[in-house]
Order: sequence, then C-alpha cells, then structure tokens
Amino acid sequence: MSIEHVLEQIKQADIVKRYGRVNRSVGLLIESKGPEANIGDVCYIYTDRSKRDYVKAEVVGFQDQHVLLMPYEQTNMIGPDSLVESSNRSLTVEVGEQLIGRVLNGLGEPIDHQNIPSGLEPYGVESEPPNPLNRPPIDEIVSTGIKAIDNCVTVGRGQRMGIFAGSGVGKSTLLGMLAKNSDAEVNVFALLGERGREVREFIEHELGEEGLKRSIIVVATSDQPALQRIKGAYTATAISEYFRDQGYHVNLMMDSLTRIAMAQRELGLASGEPPTTKGYTPSVFALLPSF
Ligand SMILES: Nc1ncnc2c1ncn2[C@@H]1O[C@H](COP(=O)(O)OP(=O)(O)OP(=O)(O)O)[C@@H](O)[C@H]1O
Ligand SMILES: [Mg+2]
Repeated sequence: MSIEHVLEQIKQADIVKRYGRVNRSVGLLIESKGPEANIGDVCYIYTDRSKRDYVKAEVVGFQDQHVLLMPYEQTNMIGPDSLVESSNRSLTVEVGEQLIGRVLNGLGEPIDHQNIPSGLEPYGVESEPPNPLNRPPIDEIVSTGIKAIDNCVTVGRGQRMGIFAGSGVGKSTLLGMLAKNSDAEVNVFALLGERGREVREFIEHELGEEGLKRSIIVVATSDQPALQRIKGAYTATAISEYFRDQGYHVNLMMDSLTRIAMAQRELGLASGEPPTTKGYTPSVFALLPSF
C-alpha cells in the first residue's frame, strides 16, 4: 500500500464518535435523536455518565428523523438524554465446538456459570438463506430413535417437521426424547418463551447428562424482553448453520414456535404495525418461514 493511499485514507477517516440521545420511551420502544444507524444495527444505550454501563438495543425502525430502538435487556436504568452509540453492525454470536454441552441466552452468551469458552469465531445471526438450487434433495432417512415416528412419519435428512398438540400433552417431553435418541451429531435446542422453572427441569430430566453432552441449549424464558426471545430463534439457527458448515449433522429444535410468533406480535404492535388475524402482525408471517 502506497503512502499516498494511506494518507488519503487518514484524511477520509471518520474519527469523531457520534452519539444520539434518548428523547422518548413508550412501552417496549425507545426513541432517540441520532445516531446514524441502519435497521438491525446493535446500539449501546449508556445508563451512566461515565459510559461504563449500557443496555444493548437494536434499531427496529425510524420515524420523523428519530431512531426507534428496542432493547435486548431490561431497561429500568434508561432516562431522558441517555447517550446512544451505534456499533454499526448487526448482532453476531460467538460460535465454536467448545459450545457443545453449554447453555446460552438468546444472544448466545453462556449462562451456565461456567468459564467463557475461548477461541470462538463471530458468526452473523441473520444470514441469507441458501440458493434453493444449492439445496440437496431429501433422500436419506434419519433415525429419530422413536419407533412410532420412524415407522409412521419417517423423517428425512434436511426435512422440517412440526409437533402440534394442546398444552400439557407431551410436546416438550417428545422433543427431549428426540434430542437424546436421534442419530444427529449435534443438537441445538432453543427453549423460547418457556416458563423459567421449566428450563432446568427440561435439561436435567428430559435431556439428561447424556443428551446434554451433544447439545447446545439456547434459553430465552418468557420473562425476557420480546426481542431477546426472537433473537434466541435466530441465534439457535445461526449456531446450527455454523455446525452444518463444519460438516456435522445437526438437529435444530425449537420449543415453541407459537411463543416466537407471540414475541414478534408484541414487537410488531409496539412498533406500529397493524394487527391482522388474531392480532398477529404481518411481520409474524414474514418471520416464520425463515426458521
Ligand atoms: N408419553 C408419556 N406418557 C406419560 N406421561 C407423559 C408422556 N409424555 C409426557 N408426559 C407427561 O406429561 C406432562 C406434560 O408434558 P410436557 O411438558 O412435555 O407437555 P407440553 O405439551 O410440552 O406442554 P406445554 O404446552 O405446557 O409446553 C409431563 O408431566 C410429562 O411427564
Ligand atoms: Mg412444553
């Protein structure tokens, strides 16, 4: 690289950090004046003057020159004029084989009180779906380890499948059995919108130590903000895609898609979308095919 080129780059470099300021907060939404950011960018809303503590939020829209942000975490500490800084990039998760056997939150951060694994690679949470012509046809049978399913509703490798039943019928138990007994090398399990007490129950009883050894669990319980519950679904999908790219056979399971749709409805209504069928906003129907 020539010295002229470097000098030119220095001249053009933007060395001023630009901040925005919070000017309104209604329900789940935080409105700020600035900073310059694109939809999907992660922003930090500082909760103290020394800029040490912050709440992570995502740009979900714009209105009258204002940026609409939605936080990933609880927001008690944000006040008028809090500083907002854009990271100018969308959410990424840190992935790697070291994550196998771990429990993560909706943003992909370990929550199981063990050390943070090192040597992980950043991976974009929202990646483009593959070209449909690059997808191999489904021609190989997967053994789920549950005879009733293998016999009556045989599943193929690469297939998507849904379990629909009333509450308390045994869906979560069945998913746990699939995780424990199927012939996949890695299970990625997203527990989204579940009750907090069900999580340990699921990990310890349904999945067990044996199942956990080849699983990664993404947890965003019903008490987490709607955005984190939705991101949990994306995080789990991104982690599965990473392992798929490494050549593993991956089983991605989500419990439950209904609660993700409800979280997206919460988000959509808060950001001003019109309600349609059963109050679900149009973005819910756009979201579901992406998983
Ligand atoms: N095959 C089975 N035989 C007997 N009991 C079962 C069976 N499967 C599940 N159960 C029991 O049924 C209860 C509810 O199961 P589970 O939590 O899996 O239901 P669910 O459909 O996921 O419910 P929810 O809709 O509330 O999430 C549990 O106590 C579980 O032990
Ligand atoms: Mg359940």
